[in-house]
Formats: sequence, structure tokens, C-alpha cells
Amino acid sequence: MEVKPLTEAEIQAIRAETAGTAARIHLNNAGASLPPDVVIKTMVDFLREEALLGGYEIEAKYRTQLDHTHELIAQLINANRDEIALVENASAAWDLAFNGLHFEPGDEVIVSEMEYISNVLGLLNAQKMNGIVIKVIPNNAAGIFPLHELEAAITDKTKLIAVTHIPSTAGNVLPAAAIGEIARKHNVLYLLDACQSVGHVPVDVQAIGCDLMAVTGRKYLRGPRGSGFLYVRQSIQDKLRVLFFDGRTVTKVTQQDFIVRADARRFEWYEKNPAIVLGLQKAVEYLLNIGIDRVWQRIRYIADLFRERLREIDGIVVHDQGDVLCGIVTFSATGIAAKDIRAKLATKNINVHIGLAHSTLYYMNRKGLNDIVRASVHYYNTEEEIEMVCRELRTLLL
Ligand SMILES: Cc1ncc(COP(=O)(O)O)c(C=O)c1O
Repeated sequence: MEVKPLTEAEIQAIRAETAGTAARIHLNNAGASLPPDVVIKTMVDFLREEALLGGYEIEAKYRTQLDHTHELIAQLINANRDEIALVENASAAWDLAFNGLHFEPGDEVIVSEMEYISNVLGLLNAQKMNGIVIKVIPNNAAGIFPLHELEAAITDKTKLIAVTHIPSTAGNVLPAAAIGEIARKHNVLYLLDACQSVGHVPVDVQAIGCDLMAVTGRKYLRGPRGSGFLYVRQSIQDKLRVLFFDGRTVTKVTQQDFIVRADARRFEWYEKNPAIVLGLQKAVEYLLNIGIDRVWQRIRYIADLFRERLREIDGIVVHDQGDVLCGIVTFSATGIAAKDIRAKLATKNINVHIGLAHSTLYYMNRKGLNDIVRASVHYYNTEEEIEMVCRELRTLLL
């Protein structure tokens, strides 16, 4: 299907609806992107009304609308509303999924080299506590995830494949659907860290074939901080242990026993900030109205242009490698520390971030990188912004 590019008028309209684009060049979308104004307005209006009406009273008033959030998220990722649990962030989602599985000593978990620190810590903890064996599959010399090595690593002890779709400190996209095909062929559970990918690239859980997926709201989804969700495929919900309980986890409780609810909301807390839930819902709605295919096309266009321009600057080394590159652009500059580049660009109202070695330990160690500059673009960034940032970088490197 042909994707209709976002027009200049649409980009300008989107920027006009995003207050943060007015005075800054925001290239830290992989940290937290700028929310559309409607996300903020929805949350502020709700909080004001809450302060006047009372927390429980306003929750009752907005119950149907609040519940619609699961529906919209499900629509975005081609899931069922009963497969979504709202959580605070991607680490919480990943932890609920991973620690909900039962591991025996010697069980193997196969991961990519692109795992984020939260996931690596979870893996190491399970290695200590349960005696799991962690198998890391590094990217090949061209920065591509080697599918044949993944398949070769699977044994009858393999319990889980847990990979990251888009890493925190590199610009490549892992072949999530091809990994899913291998997981299904060998009947191995598949947990996808889609923290950086939902809202960035098309993510369809049926096409990918993952059983579990961890997502955050504040990054490419443009939702509020403190929002996120866990996807749990219906067929595995009863196999995943519920780690935390409150009164809404169950449909029945007696003094002797309880029955957990029949959907993925068994994995979410009842007590959460409804303003954040509504903010996330608005962000998802905003994205659905634009269309993820158009978003992805635009991000690739801006990021490719950015890498091209960066490569023309003497002293800049672009690190991104792979067959599919995304909106996360990573580089180093000869003779200037990443933190100094960030600080100098900040004085010009340009936001970039630093990726530290510990954030993506396996990858950064293998590449011998202590830190990199991470400049992550979104669809609302413009060609002019890229030219301005490159101009500043050239001046810094003079
Ligand atoms: C690839 C990846 N996974 C997981 C996380 C953790 O997300 P959160 O901070 O929402 O827990 C991050 C955060 O940067 C990330 O980049």
C-alpha cells in the first residue's frame, strides 16, 4: 500500500499544536517526546475538575472514557482490549512479564545485544535467583541481528526469547516479525521490548507474533510521563503469574481462595492517575488520526537526511548500522565529549541526549563505546532544524 507523505502544511499544523516546538529544537524524542497540546489540556482539565469534584466522583463520571484507553491501544497494535494492562513505564511492563514466568535452573533466555539496562538487570537477577542461562546474540559486522544465530541458539531448554525492537542507544530496528516466526516455529515464548518502537514504526502484534510486549507512553507515542502498557496475548494470560494484587485483580474472593479476572487488567493496579490515562489515550488517538505508516515514513526521511548531513561534517562519526535505520541517530565527535556536545547545544535551545555504556551494556561494550550523542528525531522535526543543528555542530568542531 502506498503511503501518503505528510505534507508541509500538515507538519506545520502539527507543530502549531505542539507548544514545545516553538522555541526549541527537540531531538530527544527517544527520551521523552513533546506531547501534542491536546494531551496536556486533557490532563490539566481533568485535574482541575478532580480537585473540585473529588477523585472517586470524577473517576465514576469518566469511567467509560477511561476504559476506552485499552480499546485505542489495542487498535494501535492490532490486539484485543482484554490483552492490555496499563502500567507506569516500559520497565514495569517488562518486569511484570518476565518475572511472571516460571524459571527453573538451566532454563535459557535468548536476548539481543540491544537490551536496555532494566532488562539486563532483570535477566541478571533471574540468573542469580533462579539459575537461568542468558544467551546474548550479538549483531553481525553490518549491525544486523543474525536470525540464523538465534535459531541455532534455541535448545530444548530455551524458555524465552526476549529482544528489543529499537534500542536505546543505536539507530537500528530489529526484525521483530522474523524473530516471532522463529519463536513460533520452535514454540518458544516471545517477549518484545517495544519501548522505543510503538509510535515510531508500525507495530502489529499479530504480524510480529510476540506473546508479551512492553511499551512506554512518553517516548514516540507522545504521551505523558508515567504512562505505559503491557500487552499479554490472551492464550498465555493464565500461564503468567500475577505478581501484585489489589481488589480489582480478582472477580471473587473468599477467606480461602480467589479468582483472578479474565483479562490482562489482572496485571494492572487499580490505583493510578486517571489524568495520565486520559493523556495517554489522547496521544494514541492523535497518532491514530495521523497514521503510523505516515509517521514512520516521515521519521525515516528526516533521520536519513540528518545522518547524511552529519557524515559530511569532519570529525563526526555516525554509529548507526543495520539494514533498517530509524529516528534514533547516534554519533560521536572527535575531541569533544558527548556531555559537552549536549551542554553546548543546550545553550542554543537544542535538546539532544547522551547514551551511556551502561544503558545498553552488551552493545556498547562490544563496540568499545563509553558514551554517544543520541539525537532522536520525530515526525514534527523539520529539514530546517536539521540544518541548524548541523551548523551548530560544525561551529563546535572548528
Ligand atoms: C529500549 C528501551 N527499553 C526499555 C526502556 C525503559 O523504559 P521506561 O523508562 O519507560 O521504563 C527504555 C528507556 O529508555 C528503552 O530505551
